[in-house]
Amino acid sequence: MFVMQSAPGPETVIDGRTFLYFAGTGYFGLHGHPDVVRAGIEGFRMGTHAATTRAGFGTNPVLLDLERRLAAFFGTEDAVLYPSGYMSGLFLSRAAEPAWEAAFLDEHAHFSLKDGAAASGKPVIYYRHADPADLEDKMASGLPKGGRPLVMTDGVFPTFGRIAPLPDLLDAAARRGGVLAVDDAHGVGVLGPHGRGTLDHFGLEPGPALIAAGTLSKAFGGHGGFLPLARARADRVRAAVEAYAGTTPTPTPIAAASAKGVELLAAHPEWRDDLRRNAARLKSGLRALGLPVDDSPVPIAAWALAPASEMKRVQDALFDRGLALARLVYAGSPSEGVLRATVFSTHTAAQIDRLLDELKRVL
Ligand SMILES: Cc1ncc(COP(=O)(O)O)c(C=O)c1O
Repeated sequence: MFVMQSAPGPETVIDGRTFLYFAGTGYFGLHGHPDVVRAGIEGFRMGTHAATTRAGFGTNPVLLDLERRLAAFFGTEDAVLYPSGYMSGLFLSRAAEPAWEAAFLDEHAHFSLKDGAAASGKPVIYYRHADPADLEDKMASGLPKGGRPLVMTDGVFPTFGRIAPLPDLLDAAARRGGVLAVDDAHGVGVLGPHGRGTLDHFGLEPGPALIAAGTLSKAFGGHGGFLPLARARADRVRAAVEAYAGTTPTPTPIAAASAKGVELLAAHPEWRDDLRRNAARLKSGLRALGLPVDDSPVPIAAWALAPASEMKRVQDALFDRGLALARLVYAGSPSEGVLRATVFSTHTAAQIDRLLDELKRVL
């Protein structure tokens, strides 16, 4: 187990040593940004949290401000905030309307979607990874006549950083009167001309047949999940989802820090250019080393090595040289796991080149 002793950033203290850090998903280095930390400290003026639920007296100006900022960032009338991004699957499955008969999930969907769909008690059917044609087949055999599907996918798959083919999935869902629901934990703040995520990447907007949830814990440097929606629909979700009405909201200091993260990302679109440039540098360098990483603007690159012991050897050798890379068994990875490198907008070109040089040496 690695023990982190500083906020995650390009240089991070782990187990008492400073590492060049390529193992996290804080894509803009906001988790330790002084303004974000200061906003969190200010947030403590209101205590840790409201000690009751949103349905009671659990709403405060900090939470309302965060919801307003999220709505503005995502270009919707409202945004429903909930305590963790992991709850996105639950909120998406409950926010989809009209009622649906069966959920169709990408086989590599994140646990959040699997748990959220399962909680509905309705049939859950898996289609082949990022394969709209297989989705069609599964809907043809798995839906009762005239039944509506709920199609659920990650926007960006967290292990390999692949982008889901949202336009084709949306067409397939809409042809049957259904909804496409996207867990965009890794897309929000990162992809698209406005940083609104995978929908924005494809020029899509949320609407009756397309909803996308995000997390504050990655690009935005905070914590908590959210679902940008039209006002009336957001109010229906707030009224209908027990997990909104029945839980203590995001702690106030963290909501304040998250709001600052949203404000900073909105004010600095150029950071997304830095991130894209860094992602391209990392990925083209990895491909030059013969590693078959996905060619997308996502700052995640992963690859498997055989035998699996090679991945431990490479991770350990890099660690000895002061570089931290993730080795993980995660949603959509082979059972032996992968090595995964992630970059932030705040990594320098020299830091990325150092990773590539050291990798070349140890591979
Ligand atoms: C695709 C996806 N959805 C949801 C989550 C959960 O988000 P959070 O950690 O903010 O609860 C994660 C990972 O953390 C994720 O990778």
